[in-house]
Amino acid sequence: MPEMLTIALSKGRILEQTLPLLRPLGIEPLEDPERSRNLVLPTTDPAVRLIIVRATDVPTYVAGGGADVGVAGKDVLMEQGGHGLYEPIDLGIARCRLMVAGHPDASLEGRRLRVATKFVNITRRHFAGKGRQVDLIKLYGSMELAPLVGLADVIVDLVDTGNTLRANGLEPLEQIADISSRLVVNKASMKLRHREIKPLLGRIADVVARRD
Ligand code: ATP
Ligand code: PRP
Ligand code: MG
Repeated sequence: MPEMLTIALSKGRILEQTLPLLRPLGIEPLEDPERSRNLVLPTTDPAVRLIIVRATDVPTYVAGGGADVGVAGKDVLMEQGGHGLYEPIDLGIARCRLMVAGHPDASLEGRRLRVATKFVNITRRHFAGKGRQVDLIKLYGSMELAPLVGLADVIVDLVDTGNTLRANGLEPLEQIADISSRLVVNKASMKLRHREIKPLLGRIADVVARRD
């Protein structure tokens, strides 16, 4: 039997929004991915399986050949550099913006800023591009808390509806990038499994185009 094609997805919004793109291709998980404890899920296409990984681990699995294809947020790809991957399709899902946010009266000028974020590379680059050195405070989640308790002056985080910022008395101050999820492909798989991957990419691109 030829080797299975492996697609890496993360639970939550990426899984939720990717499954409708795969369904028209006849690729549906055989068990409920949000409930199953299995991390490798067979699908209705016997040649395709899904693996369930953390969102920030998708590029690592795909670049390292643990999966042929994956879906990753542009934020994650920008932060990690996207080495060893092709990024052929903007899926247009999980759309949001990467923003600097803080108290409405927070000033981005003046003294050295303390910036809390999980996106330390993007943040360093963003402020360096404006000729600003900042003190980075690396967090792993709930960045909105940091300015409330005086840990940081501002944060860099994802914003969609703005509800989380508003609920914490914060406002978007500056946009860094528009974000959506991208299909990523292992470079060796693209060459060696071109006959399977090329049509898959074509069909996904069609589904995405039909949605716009
Ligand atoms: P974990 O829960 O494992 O720490 P995570 O918070 O990065 O991971 P998700 O919240 O599922 O995982 O985010 C996955 C991707 O979805 C992000 O990389 C980003 O591209 C996008 N995303 C995150 N938050 C939002 C949002 N509020 N609205 C739209 N897209 C979002
Ligand atoms: C993300 C992000 C913000 C929030 C923004 O968190 O980290 O906190 O969404 O969305 P909004 O502008 O619509 O409020 P998520 O929901 O992924 O929770 P998490 O902390 O579990 O990652
Ligand atoms: Mg999240």
